[in-house]
Amino acid sequence: MTMDICPLEGVGAEISGVDLVRGLSDAEFATVRAAFAQHGVIFFRDQFITESQHIAFARRWAPININRFFAAHPDHPEIALVSKERDQRDNIGGGWHTDHSYDHIPAMGSILVARELPESGGNTLFASMYAAYDALSEGFQRMLRSLNAVHSARHIFGEAASTHYQQSDARGARIGNSAAAEHLQDPVHPVVIHHPLSGKKALYVNPAFTTRFAGWTEEESRPLLMQIYAHCMKPEFVHEFVWRPGSIAFWDNRATWHFARNDYHGQRREMHRITVEGEALCAAH
Ligand code: SIN
Repeated sequence: MTMDICPLEGVGAEISGVDLVRGLSDAEFATVRAAFAQHGVIFFRDQFITESQHIAFARRWAPININRFFAAHPDHPEIALVSKERDQRDNIGGGWHTDHSYDHIPAMGSILVARELPESGGNTLFASMYAAYDALSEGFQRMLRSLNAVHSARHIFGEAASTHYQQSDARGARIGNSAAAEHLQDPVHPVVIHHPLSGKKALYVNPAFTTRFAGWTEEESRPLLMQIYAHCMKPEFVHEFVWRPGSIAFWDNRATWHFARNDYHGQRREMHRITVEGEALCAAH
């Protein structure tokens, strides 16, 4: 088998010629790791891995972060269930976001495996925060590099999360869980990070969890955040991934955003997600 890494329009690369059921050799793993760092999100097709193989693959990257807000797989607590039932209106991840920016040490990435798919719909969009940063003017980049931003999940997973917000922006299966709420943090991260794997510069604010710039009020922050978000959502930085049975996506939370389309009401979708630990983020200079 020869590995092929095919870059996709917008962001990401599809990797073929590997067998995740058999597992990757050390040389294959090194190549996949380099592709992950370069492209920000990698996709695999026709990989019918078991839950144990999913866990083993994740552990090769970093320790597993057990999600404190989502329902866990009944037999494998390492796996978070990202599911939507036939009678449910909200989905998980139905707005642009990056996982765990609300933690002091944000997770490296998430490995999402398709388990049950709707007949149509349920695609996931990804956006490149490398490309979004690179497309800004040198002066605007310099200004953003001088800023830090506050991130929080209180408005989504906390006790005070409003019903309206939950209905219009549901991104979690365990909203309002008081035990989980105890673990909420409000970290400050650089607005432009030096990516720990690639060394590239990436924008690190997102519509779901960034609440304001550090030292600014929310009201003062909103116009500039909205301007940055509108820029990051431009089609040239985005790839829409169409799931098939056996598909796997592995995204880097420090280099991409993602958005799960909620366009399949009346059908069931179940995905298994494992999130792996990252490291403290450093500002780009
Ligand atoms: C997520 O935000 O982790 C869910 C993505 C998806 O279900 O496509």
